[in-house]
Amino acid sequence: MTSGPRSLEDTLAARLSSRQSHSRLRRLTTFPSTSIDFSSNSYLSLPLIPEVRRAYLAHIESYASSTPLVPLFGSGGSRLLDGNAPPAESLERDIAAFHHAPAGLLFNSGFDANVGFFSCVPQPGDIIVYDELIHASIHDGMRLSRAGRKLAFRHNSVGPDVGSDEHVAGLKCLDGVLSKLLNGEGGEDVRDGKKSVFVAVEGVYSMDGDVAALAEIVACVKRLLPNGNGHVIVDEAHSTGLFGKQGRGLVCELGLEDSVFARLHTFGKAMGSYGAIMLCSAITREYLINYARPLIYTTAMPLSCLASIKVAYDFLASNQADDLRSHLRELTGYTHDLLLSVTSRLQDAPELLYVDPGVPRSPIIPLLTPLARSLAQHCQERGLILRPIVAPTVPKGKERVRICLHAANTRAQIEELARAVEEWVRLQGASASGESKNKSRL
Ligand SMILES: Cc1ncc(COP(=O)(O)O)c(C=O)c1O
Repeated sequence: MTSGPRSLEDTLAARLSSRQSHSRLRRLTTFPSTSIDFSSNSYLSLPLIPEVRRAYLAHIESYASSTPLVPLFGSGGSRLLDGNAPPAESLERDIAAFHHAPAGLLFNSGFDANVGFFSCVPQPGDIIVYDELIHASIHDGMRLSRAGRKLAFRHNSVGPDVGSDEHVAGLKCLDGVLSKLLNGEGGEDVRDGKKSVFVAVEGVYSMDGDVAALAEIVACVKRLLPNGNGHVIVDEAHSTGLFGKQGRGLVCELGLEDSVFARLHTFGKAMGSYGAIMLCSAITREYLINYARPLIYTTAMPLSCLASIKVAYDFLASNQADDLRSHLRELTGYTHDLLLSVTSRLQDAPELLYVDPGVPRSPIIPLLTPLARSLAQHCQERGLILRPIVAPTVPKGKERVRICLHAANTRAQIEELARAVEEWVRLQGASASGESKNKSRL
């Protein structure tokens, strides 16, 4: 008997149930407003600060009263048509100056900015070399790119790999990837500087919270590509607002402004707003205006959004976020200490939960566990917002619950979190010993 044609909906449903059977089904969720936030990327909790809220509303008022033509509700079109406005241009200039960059171009999101940049800036035959844990938006940009080759290097490993067995089976370090490129087929075009090599890294890695070895990365690129055709691109989505003087980012903290080709700062994380800016040269900005499709073919962000970005930057520039940053660092250390003391009591099941003993340098602390969904659910039932992060968002075997700390979190909330984690650990132990007792009775 031949089966009839399968409807599209049947195919989609089958794909979804296959995802579900592999515990990979994604779902939209909401939590009661009384829940404690250990999940959002709003690290500085800026939107909760009364002064920030007042400044935001005052900006909206002043835009609304300045001219009836100012598009407050919606921008009215693409930046290239009717969606441009003087506040967008002045904001771009101010933000670029704040981060010590020659120019900047606003995008509706960091995702759009990365897709826009990587899809059009690398030219045919160029090469993109990227950290293996680079964000999905850069992967999508690379898919659309005309670059000849896209090569991953081992996460945050600059190299060289001398005497290490680790690279034999897996990826090479950055030095190894670049050296192979220079000495392989077509390497003379790279050596002569005829082809550009783009090196894509994040400032702070979103899932692990570790910080790029940026000074070493820049030095490696300069050493191996001395003709100036190595271009480092830094995605500062999770370092914006947190690193460097006044939160200018990792590149500024390290004084590498003149050594990177472009930087992405997003406003949806520590800045508590929405949108992004690609910092670059004036020529690159003009090129993006001409070729970056996620900028050209979309409605520009409205002034209400520009107002929230401006207010967040004004807050940083006035040094008022400095105390928030130090409070956040203190909370991060406290959380890490408590979690380490939980895992130190886990002699019976060390594989159940792992916390990196190194002191975290960002407010992102991953709790590695093969039972990420169960741990997250246990915490959620106790009013703590924590989310499981599973494959394919992170590599298989690296499932985790991702803790994000915020300036508005309190020590009491963190103690509650540690208690919930410890309680979950004990429950796992109890159910495991219950199972083994049952087995021995059979
Ligand atoms: C490293 C990184 N880059 C880019 C993005 C995209 O930024 P946005 O949320 O503004 O689209 C994200 C967001 O998750 C991110 O984590």
